[in-house]
Amino acid sequence: MRAAFIQTSPVFGKIAENVEAAVKKIKRLDADLVVLPELFSTGYQFRSKAELMRLSEDARSGYAARRLIETAKEKKTFIVAGLAEKESSKAYNSSILIGPKGFIGLYRKAHLFWNEKKIFAPGDTPFRVYRAGGAKVGMMICFDWVFPEAARTLALKGAEIICQPSNLVLPYCPQAMITRSIENRVFSITANRVGTEERIKGKALKFIGSSQIVSPGGRLLYRAGDKKEESKVVEIDPEEARDKEITPLNNIIRDRRKDLYKS
Ligand code: ACM
Repeated sequence: MRAAFIQTSPVFGKIAENVEAAVKKIKRLDADLVVLPELFSTGYQFRSKAELMRLSEDARSGYAARRLIETAKEKKTFIVAGLAEKESSKAYNSSILIGPKGFIGLYRKAHLFWNEKKIFAPGDTPFRVYRAGGAKVGMMICFDWVFPEAARTLALKGAEIICQPSNLVLPYCPQAMITRSIENRVFSITANRVGTEERIKGKALKFIGSSQIVSPGGRLLYRAGDKKEESKVVEIDPEEARDKEITPLNNIIRDRRKDLYKS
């Protein structure tokens, strides 16, 4: 399976421009699964809930979703993309999974980061695993990395590849996702963005890039730089994630001591 990320640098609020730039990049790739960053179509730093409501879209029929659905059909590929999702009076920081036959699944970010808490509704979708061609994939978004339960839940449900659209600003996640891959023996694909946004004076955010693909054994198969847009395709075998033995006597799923974990 050819798995890919696209590291972008969106222009805040320019949905059509950002979506068309991503579509062009997806079309140039030869990949079976492509992961785009969190909020790839809008940018990150909304000034208010009103601005977020104006720029958020339906997860299935908004401009971003429609163009990605068309592209997935044309390229016969699976796409994971983070976007601002509007549902009635609420907006979610969401990720969608699309395949060659159209829309497949939706995940709404469970663990909102910092000021996201003031404008987004907290996620209400369970962590779910979907079939994407020959692989089982799950979605989590950016700051979910700091809650090991997110990746663990996906792994327990059979995920072989964890797709993580991100807009990382803290430095820890790229290293932490190597651990998430090791402790769950899954592939992880983190798609981050680069660039800076300062839409609120004095509150500049610099995004760290460093998008990456990690193997179930914790091997960093590729990590992007921290300044430039970049796309990368890596050949992976999802079957590698089905082997949960870390030594012949240690199975990371069966050896859990649930009896001792109660808090
Ligand atoms: C983040 O969750 N966007 C840091």
